[in-house]
Amino acid sequence: MVLLISLALAAILVFPGREFIRKRQGLCYWACCAVSAGVIACVFSGISQSLTGVAQTLLNVFLQGGLAGALFIFVMYAGAMPDRSAFRRAVMPIRGPLSIMASILTLGHNVAYGRTYFAYLFTRASSLRWNVLLAAICSLVMIAVMLPLFVTSFLRVRRRMKPRAWKRLQRLAYLFYALMYVHVLLLNTTGAREGKWTAVLNVALYSLLFLVYASLRLSRTAQKGGREGWTDWIQLACSALMIGALVAIFQLASPTAAAPEADAAYAEPAAWTDGKYKGEGVGYNGRLTVSVVIRDGAISKAVCTGSVDDEPYLTDAVEGVLGAIVEKNTTNVDAVSGATTTSDALIAAVRDALAKAVGE
Ligand code: HEM
Repeated sequence: MVLLISLALAAILVFPGREFIRKRQGLCYWACCAVSAGVIACVFSGISQSLTGVAQTLLNVFLQGGLAGALFIFVMYAGAMPDRSAFRRAVMPIRGPLSIMASILTLGHNVAYGRTYFAYLFTRASSLRWNVLLAAICSLVMIAVMLPLFVTSFLRVRRRMKPRAWKRLQRLAYLFYALMYVHVLLLNTTGAREGKWTAVLNVALYSLLFLVYASLRLSRTAQKGGREGWTDWIQLACSALMIGALVAIFQLASPTAAAPEADAAYAEPAAWTDGKYKGEGVGYNGRLTVSVVIRDGAISKAVCTGSVDDEPYLTDAVEGVLGAIVEKNTTNVDAVSGATTTSDALIAAVRDALAKAVGE
């Protein structure tokens, strides 16, 4: 959803807006700075939590890195399209400004997510799920690669560099694009395995976009090197890869693969020993911890003491699941729909804590 809206917004910016971008580059950069600052303010003030409907979707386009990603995709495609294509001719003259705008737009995304994910990466890396850990490391490399590309995209800097050195440095862009794809795949792995349609769609669309790009780019390189005969093979290999990847993705998300195994009945004792107990489970992004208080042999309080899972899923699961556990005095409660993994992890964490209350 975020990707589709972002691609549509990028198309509006690039096609009707390209003359404006070409003539008023400074203004466009400042506008992107203002958007990133707005995103950061919304997240740190907590306003992002209270938004709903169109406002929330619009914020997500910037917050989740969608528009920045879409602008990078336009820049990528412009470089890979045949010389005479209308798309290439429209985008090439504003390729530099578009890359700069996309880089500035990643700032809001980097700060908003970095404050949680980097905090975990540097202090409690073992709490993160493997895919989230790799995605956070990947983000660090992406930022390191993006910075020199960003600085040298400014015409003033470019003019001071030797053309050969500039071209050599710009080859880092291919590494950056590859990392962006890996970043998105890693972050959608858990959701796709759960059969979450937004994650499956994201994986499928990004795979399609990046494989078509790879096919175009390799064909262009083959043609430039006088190896026209290779293009058919390249396109065939990329199409086979694409079909294979899509089948694998949809297989992963098929109801059989996503269906949870039959939940073994959990037998609870009649009462627990009074006290305060800690437990943990594995949520959507990594380990989460809970604290449970037993008074007069019943659950009187259950709170989540730490989690890297994203809002608003975490709040929904905490309110729904922990609230029901205390109210009903049992862990045999339903998961909150839309936040199933976090809910299941909270239930597992409370059971982990309660196991200690039986032995004491
Ligand atoms: C140059 C830096 C970065 C770029 C270009 C980038 C790009 C992207 C893109 C294109 C998406 C997919 C958006 C969509 O749903 O269509 C995404 C998602 C995401 N990125 Fe990044 N990213 C960057 C840095 C970071 C950093 C530093 C972090 C945190 C450590 C991060 C965490 C995330 C998360 C958690 C998501 C999933 C968002 C969601 O679906 O809620 N990213 N990123």
